[in-house]
Amino acid sequence: MNELINKAIQMIDRSRAPYSNYKVGAAVETVDGNIIGGCNVENASYPLSNCAERTALFTAVAEGYSQFKAMAVSTENGGAPCGACRQVIWELCGDIPIYICNENGLDHETTSGTLLPEPFDESKLT
Ligand code: THU
Repeated sequence: MNELINKAIQMIDRSRAPYSNYKVGAAVETVDGNIIGGCNVENASYPLSNCAERTALFTAVAEGYSQFKAMAVSTENGGAPCGACRQVIWELCGDIPIYICNENGLDHETTSGTLLPEPFDESKLT
């Protein structure tokens, strides 16, 4: 858990946030203990920006990982994942612990299930 949180905090330094100036770092841990980081990457065409959580997860998938057991997100003020990221976290990770952090460490712990009650997912499509 500490390694995951430290990675999320470190990833704040990779953030590209010239428009909002709200830097976000994230890290996801695979079931076999690999930790992959992500950061928010903003664009002058604002909707094209990508959140830190989705950067971490999409990077992990691109690197060949598909099973995840925890995620950490770090901001200056302990912000929680946005709605779009909650949906993506649920889809790719299921119900896992989410460590919400500030720049100094853990702010509080929650779960992806708590963050996204009554999710829409593949179970509704079969
Ligand atoms: N942001 C994230 O990276 N993750 C979230 O869950 C919330 C928002 C980013 C998007 C944008 O670059 C900045 O924070 C301000 O919204």
